[in-house]
Amino acid sequence: MGHGHGPPSRSRSLRLAGVTDAVLEWSVAGSFTRIGTIVRRRLEHWADPVPRPGRVVVVTGATSGLGKEAALELGRLGCTVVLVGRSVDRLAEVKAAIEADGGTAVSEQADLSDLSQSAALADRIRARFDRLDVLIHNAGALLSEYHAGPQGHEVTVTVHVLSPYLLTERLRSPLKASDRAKVISMTSGGMYTEAFDLEKLEMRRDRYKGSVAYARAKRAQVVLARAWQRRAPDGGIDFSAVHPGWARTPGVAESLPRFARIAGPLLRSPAEGVDTLIWLATSPPGEPGGGQLWLDRRARPLYRVPSTRVDEATELAQGEELLTWLDAATHTEN
Ligand SMILES: NC(=O)c1ccc[n+]([C@@H]2O[C@H](COP(=O)([O-])OP(=O)(O)OC[C@H]3O[C@@H](n4cnc5c(N)ncnc54)[C@H](OP(=O)(O)O)[C@@H]3O)[C@@H](O)[C@H]2O)c1
Repeated sequence: MGHGHGPPSRSRSLRLAGVTDAVLEWSVAGSFTRIGTIVRRRLEHWADPVPRPGRVVVVTGATSGLGKEAALELGRLGCTVVLVGRSVDRLAEVKAAIEADGGTAVSEQADLSDLSQSAALADRIRARFDRLDVLIHNAGALLSEYHAGPQGHEVTVTVHVLSPYLLTERLRSPLKASDRAKVISMTSGGMYTEAFDLEKLEMRRDRYKGSVAYARAKRAQVVLARAWQRRAPDGGIDFSAVHPGWARTPGVAESLPRFARIAGPLLRSPAEGVDTLIWLATSPPGEPGGGQLWLDRRARPLYRVPSTRVDEATELAQGEELLTWLDAATHTEN
């Protein structure tokens, strides 16, 4: 089978898809730009996401770019979307757009650079919903200048790591009420450039460099998702990380204007950027399972740069160290 005439066999086309995928992944640019998504979608015959009426999904950073796109799409797919953002006006706009499409959304205003606001947000969500099916930690930013939040923590770490930890821990009971809930963190391919080192995670004002702080926080998000999953592999919640490749969003235009100009037409659309996030959020309970980093509907390597690689035992220890630090930092300071 598969020689000469007739349609290629299923195993041959799967092999071709696998090889093409590997070449794209290896090339970085081929993988992260829209080339990656366009080729993989065709070769792997991606199915449309499945509608999930009544699934309750929290999306942080739902007022712009990828989070907004994800919220709109999840609303179209029948989910009840809990929109989290800083701006009441922008939240109202997204909520109105979801409702105009026949969907259901509620707005929750919170600035995740303030741990007390994150704690209050979790309490409000818990009071409103007995059950949460999906929690998406998408809010994020690459900040060129050092800022500290009200609790004294540097803001990049607060928004990407401390607040997601606090929210997740405070929402465990409604998450556990779901039939295998999903907690999904939106990380970045930028994380490949930095190793995990707890001592260096929170950068000091005098050493601050935005792109490095961002990459370290994004690496920490992946370490955290895997540590959570490892602690309770059958705990009723699957923890995953996903990265969007490079997508055209207000966030990228603002923080990386030169890159946005040069990469221009090769950047993914927001819809392409959230395809895998939507696929994960709408997949059946327990599928595809937690503890992985995803791009274009496949689990991806954790390391690309040799100096960032650690063995499994070290990764396990780092995950535990991060959990212990987060627990202390979020218990004592909100
Ligand atoms: N676009 C890409 O190519 C790309 C690549 C890798 C990773 N990512 C990640 O994808 C996520 C979304 O990025 P994006 O490109 O869509 O950026 P964006 O257009 O700037 O959207 C970011 C969202 O996060 C919210 N946010 C930022 N700081 C917040 C805070 N302190 N409290 C609450 N919400 C806050 C923003 O709220 P406001 O509306 O109030 O500003 C906005 O809704 C981020 O985690 C980013 O790191 C993006």
